[in-house]
Amino acid sequence: MNAYPKIVVSPPGPVARAFLSKDAQFLSPSYARYYPLVVESAQGCIVRDVDGNEYIDLNAGIGCMNVGHNHPKIVDAIKSQCDRFLHYSNTDFYYREVIKLAEKLAGITPGTFEKKACFGNSGTEAIEAAVKLAKWHTRKQLLIGFIGAFHGRTVGALSITASKPVQRRHFLPLMPGVVHVPYPYCYRCPFKLVYPDCHYWCVDFIEEFVLQKFAPPEDLAAIVFEPIQGEGGYIVPPPEYFQRLKKLADKFSILLIDDEVQSGIGRTGKWFAIEHWGIEPDIVCCAKALASGLPLGATIAKAKVMDWLGGSHASTFGGNPVSCSAATAVLDVVKEEKLLDNANKQGDRALKRLRAFGEHSDIVGDVRGKGLMIGMELVEEKDGKKPASKKAADIMTRSWKRGVAVVTCGVSTLRLSPPLTIDCEMLDTALDIVEDVITEVSKET
Ligand SMILES: Cc1ncc(COP(=O)(O)O)c(C=O)c1O
Repeated sequence: MNAYPKIVVSPPGPVARAFLSKDAQFLSPSYARYYPLVVESAQGCIVRDVDGNEYIDLNAGIGCMNVGHNHPKIVDAIKSQCDRFLHYSNTDFYYREVIKLAEKLAGITPGTFEKKACFGNSGTEAIEAAVKLAKWHTRKQLLIGFIGAFHGRTVGALSITASKPVQRRHFLPLMPGVVHVPYPYCYRCPFKLVYPDCHYWCVDFIEEFVLQKFAPPEDLAAIVFEPIQGEGGYIVPPPEYFQRLKKLADKFSILLIDDEVQSGIGRTGKWFAIEHWGIEPDIVCCAKALASGLPLGATIAKAKVMDWLGGSHASTFGGNPVSCSAATAVLDVVKEEKLLDNANKQGDRALKRLRAFGEHSDIVGDVRGKGLMIGMELVEEKDGKKPASKKAADIMTRSWKRGVAVVTCGVSTLRLSPPLTIDCEMLDTALDIVEDVITEVSKET
């Protein structure tokens, strides 16, 4: 019998419930929680709640704990940095931790050209920096973003975000100059075409109907994209998509800003997801898993693009030494423990298994992903592809109650993104439970 998961009281248990009522009293109602998991501690791929239940974590703390929870090397790096100093504003002075990390990031981001990094505290700040940099460097105003994208919630990033109406409602107007175009979502092609007979019309459309009609390329600073849409539904573009987009960008001297906040740091079996398409963006943004849960965002650009003047962009805590020490340790652990290989191995196994399962399930419409960034899109019936959002939410909650922490994204997609350290046994146990729950829910209507 497997040691995990371990459910000792049906969640949320009595201790959790007490916290939930305090939470409702004192915390902002803007947080949209998936289910009432109140965390007490976490180690590796296991999360323990305040009532003693232990869950297999297929969320990795929402894409942040790629090296597993509380990895001893990360905790040591944080502790030893805390003993030395906690803060001395990188924006105004110097310290070695941020320089060391910038050099390491330059070595792993795509492209052998010279690079420079600018640090903030979160994903949304990494995007803000990228957008400001693109505008600074090009002296142009317009941006292209994608329908379904999630880039964060500060005003600049939110202007490019187009994932759910609730994220923008009552905050409009936002930053002007953002044009949204369809994302290459082949399972539900926005143009109702079929890959590969579509001949990548979604790229030509940008040139013929956006650039030639209302977004003059001489005013376009950058195209901002997620190489795999995360919050939008774990959507994987087809094989040549980004080569074609790059060709278009090069033709009109438009910069490419690659948002790797969720897909970076090994999540897809490569350091950065865009490597699957073999192109080198001008600017790469990362955060989430970079510092294993400590606040850190990085915007890494071609050195010739990051040419702004002193004072044009910075943040007091951006690149703080504790987060940078954690991040350097994260990059070392990913390498030493060969986590890219494990992400590929476990991801391939999971994809194969879930696709086989999906063929026999009435409600699994599509299974897609790269490495350990895997989405299962749930539908009411396979032919009509009507999104089964209630069923997806049910499957998520029931899986959690049975000891697997998993969440949804998009309209009806179950997202599987465990720590990259997960082994075969633990992943199989988690997938046994998720598949069982899907079968149970599919039989109920
Ligand atoms: C692709 C992507 N970009 C940006 C963000 C925003 O990151 P943060 O919440 O750290 O601001 C997220 C968060 O989920 C994300 O998935």
